[in-house]
Amino acid sequence: MKELQFSTIVKVYSFDELPSEYKMLVEKAKSSVKLSYSPYSHFAVGAAVLLDNGEVYCGANQENAAYPSGLCAERTVMFYANANRPDVPVKALACACYTNGHFTAKPGSPCGNCRQVLLETEHRFKHDMEIVLYGEDEIYVFPSAKSLLPHCFVDDDLNG
Ligand code: THU
Repeated sequence: MKELQFSTIVKVYSFDELPSEYKMLVEKAKSSVKLSYSPYSHFAVGAAVLLDNGEVYCGANQENAAYPSGLCAERTVMFYANANRPDVPVKALACACYTNGHFTAKPGSPCGNCRQVLLETEHRFKHDMEIVLYGEDEIYVFPSAKSLLPHCFVDDDLNG
């Protein structure tokens, strides 16, 4: 028997400490909570994607009376960006969560389905994407989608 260990180094920033490009991306994610359609959870999530060419795409969670038909902010914006710029790698994604009249103190965290979708984009472009998770108290920057989903499943695994 042997053991494997998966580990991630997450950078923890205050807003002022963030690189200016990520300040801009966080501001876009925060303002995107206004795009949320969340009449059921009242939990608004805004997301912004920065492409390698400098373009930014914004999106938010979209809920549905048939609950599972809704979509998280991260997948909404990632599919939007990939569908409009299928040849441009994604450099970073930021998201922010807003509920009960304020942004959450702790950084929100992408759900498992979103992690898998972010991973697919990262793998497709062979280009790591930094994940910037906004909280009022602190901001987490993960180095890649893969770091949020260790021992993950990608196309290579389909070949057995
Ligand atoms: N939500 C997101 O948009 N992103 C996440 O990573 C977690 C959850 C949304 C889904 C639903 O509309 C609401 O937040 C409550 O779960």
